[in-house]
Amino acid sequence: MLTFQRFDAAGCDFPPPRVPLLPVPRARDLTFRRSPSARALSGAGVRHFSRGRYALHAAYQAAGVGGGGTLLAPAYHCRTMLDPALALGAEIMFYPLGEDLRPDVAAIAALLSEVSQPVRALLVPHYFGFPQPAEMMSSLAELCRMRGVFLIEDCSHGWQIATEQGPRCNSGTGRMVVASPYKFFPSPDGGTLWANESQLDNAAPSKASAAVDELKALVKVLAHGGGAAGLGVAAAAGAQAARGQDYCETGALISIHYQRAAENQRGLALSRAIVRHTCADVAAARRRANYVRWLGVTAKLGSAEALFDALPPDCTPYMFPLLLQAPDPHFFQLKQLGMPVWRWDDMAVSPCKVAARMRLHLLHLPCHQSLSERQMDWMTSAVTQVLAE
Ligand SMILES: Cc1ncc(COP(=O)(O)O)c(C=O)c1O
Repeated sequence: MLTFQRFDAAGCDFPPPRVPLLPVPRARDLTFRRSPSARALSGAGVRHFSRGRYALHAAYQAAGVGGGGTLLAPAYHCRTMLDPALALGAEIMFYPLGEDLRPDVAAIAALLSEVSQPVRALLVPHYFGFPQPAEMMSSLAELCRMRGVFLIEDCSHGWQIATEQGPRCNSGTGRMVVASPYKFFPSPDGGTLWANESQLDNAAPSKASAAVDELKALVKVLAHGGGAAGLGVAAAAGAQAARGQDYCETGALISIHYQRAAENQRGLALSRAIVRHTCADVAAARRRANYVRWLGVTAKLGSAEALFDALPPDCTPYMFPLLLQAPDPHFFQLKQLGMPVWRWDDMAVSPCKVAARMRLHLLHLPCHQSLSERQMDWMTSAVTQVLAE
């Protein structure tokens, strides 16, 4: 039975984020030429959904998760990685991670040989767009092959990794890749699955989105305002400000972020057009530059540090993971300033100590391509103001 530990910010009255957490549509980022990474969007074994979570649903289903088949998931996760398995009625087990969020391969091997229930899929994320080491992925692939387990690479944070690894799935079996294009491109939705065509027999075909939904999404994209509150002088949090509450909830609970009606539903054609006509290389270079800027700023902080303090040459970062020493008060102070922050503070409980710590200590800060100099200045000043000492 799963137990979830969920932080609820009710009563904290955090202001809306002053800077958008995800990229925003801008005409100047578009190109008439098709972007090379768009090639990965078509071909046998590729399926499109409105979010990565529904692509995961199709992947889990194709792997035989549910109906007695178990999912082996990472101990550090967000609810939408688990929701699709719970929707299939599956058991979920968790494997531990190291401080660098690398899967503990020995622990996975031990789990696979010890458990009595049949594990059908192993989910491995490339957290924050940092590729898991190739050697480790090969060991996991071999382990999965020996045990008859599907390896699902979760590239929700790593579009570039997905475009390399995804198309390879059709030439072999036992491996699938899932991505969330809307986290990399300013598209209104997007979730992509790459698999071997023959493995998708099990998964229901996806239904096309309605013309009216396409039109509504287009109007929204054209009228886009960024969805953030704008910069300004922010009030610092008072020492007595509310602290929210942590809840424990037990059961096979599907989160509010998952809609069964969206399963097997094709994502918007508009989103795929945006992906095809956005300069992915330019976006990647901007993300890298913003990440490096965050590294420079956070190297001098007394109360927090970068989780990944170097940017490998093959990495296009999704967000900047910042590890706090003291989430109370610093998480609350940053949120009170209107800092755009995500945190996976709603998570299933497992014995993994790293995941338990990251739940409240690890912040996800934006480094996407649409951030302006002013927005980066504002965010880096806010972080320095709160975390310098
Ligand atoms: C690592 C990871 N996998 C999967 C998902 C689900 O992706 P989506 O938001 O596209 O449904 C998320 C969501 O944030 C995620 O962070």
